[in-house]
Amino acid sequence: MSDFKPGLEGVVAIQTEIAEPDREGGALRYRGVDIEELVGHVPYEKVWGLLVDESLDSAMPDPEPYEPKSLTGNAPSDLQAETARLSSEWDLKKLVDTEDEEARDDLARLSAQMMSIVAKSAAVADGRGPAPDDVVAQGDTAAEKFLLRWRGEADPRHVKAIDTYWICTAEHGLNASTFTARITASTGADCGAAMSAAVGALSGPLHGGAPARVLPMLDEVARTDDPQGYVKQVLESKGRIMGFGHRVYRAEDPRSRILKRTAKELGSPRFEVAEALEGSALAALRERKPDYVIATNVEFYSAVVLDVAEIPPELTPAMFACARVAGWAAHILEEKRTGRLIRPSARYVGPAARSLSAV
Ligand code: ACO
Repeated sequence: MSDFKPGLEGVVAIQTEIAEPDREGGALRYRGVDIEELVGHVPYEKVWGLLVDESLDSAMPDPEPYEPKSLTGNAPSDLQAETARLSSEWDLKKLVDTEDEEARDDLARLSAQMMSIVAKSAAVADGRGPAPDDVVAQGDTAAEKFLLRWRGEADPRHVKAIDTYWICTAEHGLNASTFTARITASTGADCGAAMSAAVGALSGPLHGGAPARVLPMLDEVARTDDPQGYVKQVLESKGRIMGFGHRVYRAEDPRSRILKRTAKELGSPRFEVAEALEGSALAALRERKPDYVIATNVEFYSAVVLDVAEIPPELTPAMFACARVAGWAAHILEEKRTGRLIRPSARYVGPAARSLSAV
């Protein structure tokens, strides 16, 4: 118990064959393939196949017809609630009671349906119903169908922004939401329970909720035209600059590099402001912490790329969840195969034994 690590930093809790974030070299590989080779060459749904089935001949299917029971328009919470509900609606079997193939098919159905739930919730937030199935069927890729379902139309720039973002953020080792999915799977729960638990973990600002806080920062810098002053004020008030720092990477985050390039290629109107803020933030963080590398993380340019696709900031955690269904599904299957309950220990540091009357 002497090697307690707050936040489990550096603790190796699982072995995985799914993805390899290359901490020092700044590369990310899915099943050994660098994401630089995937972006722009295969659509997201095939990356799902690569991650889950280790095959590009396999892909995430289209969602089957299903009507969510109660959408509020708050996509992250709609997604968590409706995904949990699918466990009973579809009578999903517990992982301990299924074969791998059946669990894999449950995860494929769930992944596709989760994207559809987010698109429908986004339509509710916009005050309209989702597009009919014949309109959605005109799309070629999952990203295009997602936009058609939500908006009834799909601008090719928006499709490219979303497909690139989804591929870059499809999987990333043992992050908080994936760990949550694996812990839930390790108890033998069903796939809907594991996926919805992961959605909850992703929603926090220190994980998938960060892009929602990046755009307001960019707005503020655009208003004042003073990125240095903004950074100084955040750091002096002991705040965190959203979109910077990472528990794993001690080099440039490769996803950030690709998303930055994409934001520029797609002509993001926020690109210049983002680059100015990035420069000021990196310089100030380097000066403040010369021995601790704090680089731009995936969330900073994610926010800029998603803005190109006119994704409202409050929807960004749900967009992240759409991407991460691939990684979660792959990890839930990998966890199922280990068959070992995840149950670490806690060191008790509370009061010594005492009588009830002493409390
Ligand atoms: N802005 C300002 N200071 C920072 C930042 C930041 N973005 N990130 C780290 N620091 C500072 C901390 O204040 C701390 O300083 P202190 O020692 O003086 O208190 C020091 O660096 C170490 O901070 P930790 O939280 O221990 O660093 P860790 O590497 O564990 O943190 C984390 C990673 C949580 C992502 C952090 O960098 C952060 O909060 N970033 C902002 C939120 C964000 O962008 N989240 C998205 C992460 S990517 C993802 O989840 C997909």
